[in-house]
Amino acid sequence: MIEKKLRQEIAKIAKKNWQVELSDVVLVSPKELWQGDLTTNVGMKVAARWGVPASQAADIVIGELVQSKFIKKNFTKVTMAGPGFVNFFMSPQALYETVQGGLKNTASPDWRGQKVIVEYSSPNIAKPMHVGHLRSTIIGQALVNLYAALGAKVVAINYLGDWGTQFGKLLVAYDQWGSKVALKHNPIDEMLRVYVKFHEQVKKNPELEKQAQAAFYQLEKGNAKYVRQWKLFRQYSLVEFKGLYKRLRVNFNHWEGESMYQRLLKIIIKDLVTKNVATVNEDKSIVVLFNDNKTPAMLIQKSDGASLYATRDLAALKARVKKYQPRLMLYVVANQQALYFEQLFTIANKAGLAPKTNLRHIKFGLVLGAGKKKMATREGEVIKLEELLNQAADLAWRIIEKKNPQLKSNAKTKVAEAVGVGAVKYNDLSQNRLTDIVFDWKKMLSLDGNSGPYLQYTYVRMKSILRKMGKCQMLKFGVASLSDEDMELLRKLAQFKNALERAAQDNGPHLVATYLYELADTVNSYYHESPVLKAPEPARSNRLKLVKQAAETLKQGLGILGIQVVERM
Ligand code: ARG
Repeated sequence: MIEKKLRQEIAKIAKKNWQVELSDVVLVSPKELWQGDLTTNVGMKVAARWGVPASQAADIVIGELVQSKFIKKNFTKVTMAGPGFVNFFMSPQALYETVQGGLKNTASPDWRGQKVIVEYSSPNIAKPMHVGHLRSTIIGQALVNLYAALGAKVVAINYLGDWGTQFGKLLVAYDQWGSKVALKHNPIDEMLRVYVKFHEQVKKNPELEKQAQAAFYQLEKGNAKYVRQWKLFRQYSLVEFKGLYKRLRVNFNHWEGESMYQRLLKIIIKDLVTKNVATVNEDKSIVVLFNDNKTPAMLIQKSDGASLYATRDLAALKARVKKYQPRLMLYVVANQQALYFEQLFTIANKAGLAPKTNLRHIKFGLVLGAGKKKMATREGEVIKLEELLNQAADLAWRIIEKKNPQLKSNAKTKVAEAVGVGAVKYNDLSQNRLTDIVFDWKKMLSLDGNSGPYLQYTYVRMKSILRKMGKCQMLKFGVASLSDEDMELLRKLAQFKNALERAAQDNGPHLVATYLYELADTVNSYYHESPVLKAPEPARSNRLKLVKQAAETLKQGLGILGIQVVERM
């Protein structure tokens, strides 16, 4: 509220003097606390427009602002910084109000009511999900939560890889070597087994390749037997995926699959050809050429009429834009597909498929095992995500067992799950998504580094203080003057919403994680310096209130990252 009002006050002055509009006024939290609680670039905006020195404009803004009752009431200092920034230092009361308000409502004017599509996870059926899909799932869900917290209307989409020539291979392989019983009991393993066998056998018997092509052709034509078998493969895969999603607390609004866009392929191809974006070759294959001398051509139809990954993506893109008219559509997919998405978006722009949608490829790096070696993903040798999460929970269990042996056994198991899975998620989300991440269990599970368990433990400590607080009457916040430490914590808390906005600007959940880590550090040194329960009133009330807000902020922030808090550990 205070922030909104301040922005209006600044805009009023800017409009009166220089005809600068409200929409041009940016007000954010500065990076460092010494720079104040809020900062605006209005001086620069005026300078850019009128050619006056920014500092002169900033001076005028400050001169007029400090007369206002609103400023006198809510701010202790308004200063100029750098080449024309204006920095605002809020009063404790105003900060506290901001913190309380920010926790109740994290919506931001930039995102409230805006439609955002996040496509993520998108594993391929009939295969185990690999660590790359794990990253997409974790990052994607964090972005969904982040935009939702900012007030956007988010559509979370899982786009399954359930179509393509590989299903021709699988159908042929299963026909020859598959076992119904094994498929029922261990579907993914069985599908993987026959698929791997296909690749071994095709070396000796190239005929198989032709059979597979024919089978996919039949599948695309709707051959009843193949469709039935394919449906079964899909269904079995979904059961497995859903178990993992439940464990990861991942929720989609919409399940799509490449297969769904089958009937739209002809239309999109025709559209692209008519618009001269695509060219038909002599052999009837259809291709998009890019005239920049560097981007390789993209095939959208094979000479036998079979469709491709790209064709289905273009059809999906068009259909989604038509259905949702999003402002932003994110594709959370590994780095390896960077060129592919560049091609896809260029085609979409050329053909005018999404004129009002910002299309973004949210890329991310690899997952490396200990020793920074690439985690094995060769066929038949994949790391099972299920096992990975089990391992995380087991290791967490041992830590909890040591730390808090009195905890009941089933509570221990629950906490271990939250801590183990949280550690895996935090390890991913706390790093810039473009970098490769390393599975270093010791670091991931450490209770005093930049780790998920450290943040969860910080929360547990705060909750334990709050539990001990007893029933006595709490005083109103800020009756007595606050210490430097109180102020530092309060001001850090007031930056929460801004951290969320920054994270959305970058599509970088690590900015939320960084903020939470800094907050945890601030809190931990806070009660090292300042007694809370033993402090005399009114300091005690102030501190308890600050601890309560800090715990709540940590919980909400971790919630955005998809990490559960626990009450004891
Ligand atoms: N299923 C694909 C894979 O596992 C990822 C799909 C990414 N999304 C998309 N719209 N192409 O590689």
